[in-house]
Amino acid sequence: MNSENILEVKHLHKRFASKGVVVKAVTDVSFDVKPGETIGIVGESGCGKTTLGRCIVRAYDASEGEVFYRTRDGEELDFLKVDRKKMKSIRKEIQMVFQDPYSSLDPRMTVLDIIKEPLKANYPKMSKAEMDQRAKDMATKVGLNPTYLMRYPHAFSGGQRQRIGIARALILNPQIIVCDEAVSALDVSIQAQVINLLHDLQKEMKLTYLFISHDLSVVEHISDKVGVMYLGKMAEFAETEELYAHPLHPYTEALLSAVPVADPTVQIERIPLQGEIPNPANPPSGCYFHGRCRYCTEKCKTETPEFVELKPNHFVACHRAKELSLRGFAYDTKPEAKDE
Ligand SMILES: Nc1ncnc2c1ncn2[C@@H]1O[C@H](COP(=O)(O)OP(=O)(O)O)[C@@H](O)[C@H]1O
Ligand SMILES: [Mg+2]
Repeated sequence: MNSENILEVKHLHKRFASKGVVVKAVTDVSFDVKPGETIGIVGESGCGKTTLGRCIVRAYDASEGEVFYRTRDGEELDFLKVDRKKMKSIRKEIQMVFQDPYSSLDPRMTVLDIIKEPLKANYPKMSKAEMDQRAKDMATKVGLNPTYLMRYPHAFSGGQRQRIGIARALILNPQIIVCDEAVSALDVSIQAQVINLLHDLQKEMKLTYLFISHDLSVVEHISDKVGVMYLGKMAEFAETEELYAHPLHPYTEALLSAVPVADPTVQIERIPLQGEIPNPANPPSGCYFHGRCRYCTEKCKTETPEFVELKPNHFVACHRAKELSLRGFAYDTKPEAKDE
């Protein structure tokens, strides 16, 4: 492992076999994460974001590949290869926050018990008083009123329920949090509150985030780096500003052209994505994106592009990345602030 990294995902694959067909949900995904970073993972529904996140936390068994991880004690290991006992101790450090607080919170448990549950499972000798205290402290930290903790999840709003999910994920003092569409079900104003909370908690608890979302405008504000997935593969990976301003993959360009611009005077021509998302059980030849790409050539139909570092810290899998000049998100079309 590079000494600067906390996580290194290497050539990760996940195939699902069902009814005689094999779905390639994740294919050969690699990227590095430094401690304290937020990595955004974007792409259309079905491109493998959730599967990737779940393989990294070992909620799914990856089919191939490695997830190198540096533990809080400084040990380097392949998280996918550690035995069950070791996995349990390391899982405390790598937690997940889910999209749907309705289905991920047990409706028959009080919120106090929900937040406490990971402590019960991992520290059987801890006293009830200590657990209650820790759960109350964590509830306060995520902005929940501790006097309401004896209530059940249905008594809370969507945003509050997401805070409950965050408290539960943080109670074991993890290093890494995988947020899977953690704010996608919330109204825009509530989204902003939860994102601010995640940002504050990150600084306070020195957290590293993998922030999965189909919404590029959400990811832009929270991420240091962004990975764009298409049909199970990483199409592009770069620092956020670089990726949004100077995309190198035609798929990224098309996604960015669909992001709403705050300034109503700016008119952005949307680049339509031709055709349908292909079936991951029967992916296209060559570049997986070729059938929907307006820059497609003969080579793209037959040869698979390598995922290469074309510029420092800017990775892309496109045969034409060097020669194309693609349009980024409309940063530079924003009117200059006038000094008066
Ligand atoms: N448990 C599963 N069994 C079979 N196929 C699955 C399973 N989970 C996901 N898939 C398939 O894998 C692909 C990626 O899904 P997913 O990771 O949920 O994408 P995303 O989170 O980007 O929407 C999809 O084609 C989906 O149908
Ligand atoms: Mg998903």
